[in-house]
Amino acid sequence: MVNMLQNYEQAKALLANYKQEHLLAFYDELNEEEKQLLINQIFQIDFEEIFRLYEASKIDEMIPHHKIEPLPYLVKNQLSKPEIISYQSIGKKVISSGKYAVVTLAGGQGTRLGYKGPKGTFELDIVPKKSLFEILCDRLKEANETYHTTIPWYIMTSHSNDQLTKEFFKEKKYFGYPKEYISFFQQAELPLIDVSGNLILEETYKIKEASNGNGDVFASMKRHRILQNMKQKQIEWVFFSGVDNVTLEIVDPLLLGLTLLHKNLVASKSLFKKDVNDKDWVFAKKNGKPSIMNSCHLTDTMKIAKNEEGNYLYREINMLAHLFHISALEKVADSALPYHRAFKKNTFVNEEGMKQVPEDPNTFKFETFIFDAFSFFDSIELLRVEREEEFAPIKDFTSIYNPESAKELYERKYRLK
Ligand code: UTP
Repeated sequence: MVNMLQNYEQAKALLANYKQEHLLAFYDELNEEEKQLLINQIFQIDFEEIFRLYEASKIDEMIPHHKIEPLPYLVKNQLSKPEIISYQSIGKKVISSGKYAVVTLAGGQGTRLGYKGPKGTFELDIVPKKSLFEILCDRLKEANETYHTTIPWYIMTSHSNDQLTKEFFKEKKYFGYPKEYISFFQQAELPLIDVSGNLILEETYKIKEASNGNGDVFASMKRHRILQNMKQKQIEWVFFSGVDNVTLEIVDPLLLGLTLLHKNLVASKSLFKKDVNDKDWVFAKKNGKPSIMNSCHLTDTMKIAKNEEGNYLYREINMLAHLFHISALEKVADSALPYHRAFKKNTFVNEEGMKQVPEDPNTFKFETFIFDAFSFFDSIELLRVEREEEFAPIKDFTSIYNPESAKELYERKYRLK
């Protein structure tokens, strides 16, 4: 009891340092277990770090124009059939020899879709209905048949959706995939901050924390010995993608073949940015290193500049489809990625102790992005693919990236209609 009181006083003093005493507003109403949970969480949070990130995120990153250069890329549609066949054959050998693995980044909150449950369990309304996880699994099963192998599948979850994700796989009997080839690992979380600069409560006894961005995948893979596991399995190449793109080719011998041919350790697929005024970030070299940047850093001339072949220099956009050599993963796992700030909708406990669902974004979230890892390398293999063939993500119900449009693209690609 004395200990509990001491802990409470310590926690209160700690919070006072950061003007966060409101997090204990309901303490007296909690039962002993809840009190303990809240105090433990307060001691575990790195307040110094979260407020450092918050302050740093207020400053816009400025990049001098002269340090931006084009990043070379290939266009799949501009390759001849014999070229494609020959590059693919290089990649096929590696996949067939069991040296290829796939990581699905499924630790996100999916706040825009607002679906209750892990986003990967959301069902596409096709016949028969299929969850996003099952759709990914189908691609792996097909590849296993084509390449006479079993591709190890790693799924990154977060604290908030880990248990539900694992239960879903169990309930669905792993979609018939060999269970021993599927591994789950959890990424880290960070507290969220509201517009007044305060941490928020998710429950009266719990501070709201959320996944800290898909860039945490490298550190998480190291922390959970996934990298070690991959090395034991003699995996050499690892493909990363999100959970919500239903037409993406996640086992792509062409991308792998080109990457090997050009001796790159990192690769990515890109899409052509149709409308120059879209806000999508673009691939470019920043200070000599491959990166993806906000196009506000480009001049109007750069935005429409073309190379000698008539291809635009700065119109390749990210579609979250990346390939890393295992040595590249080890390198990045030991390095810190920069944090970015996102503004998201999150339910919180208000001053009256009631749960409040905001209508608009209300909290800042601090995230690292997987693509920031590109800047640890001198070059990457960049391959532009066609939207119609490989880009059908589900983000929300209102933009073009909604379940209906994804369904349509999926059905068209797999000729279901
Ligand atoms: P999104 O950018 O779509 O973010 O993630 P999100 O959190 O899923 O959704 P919103 O923005 O709240 O609506 C792209 C991919 O990266 C994964 C997501 O699960 C998705 O597959 N991701 C995102 C993580 O694995 N961890 C994160 O911390 C964030």
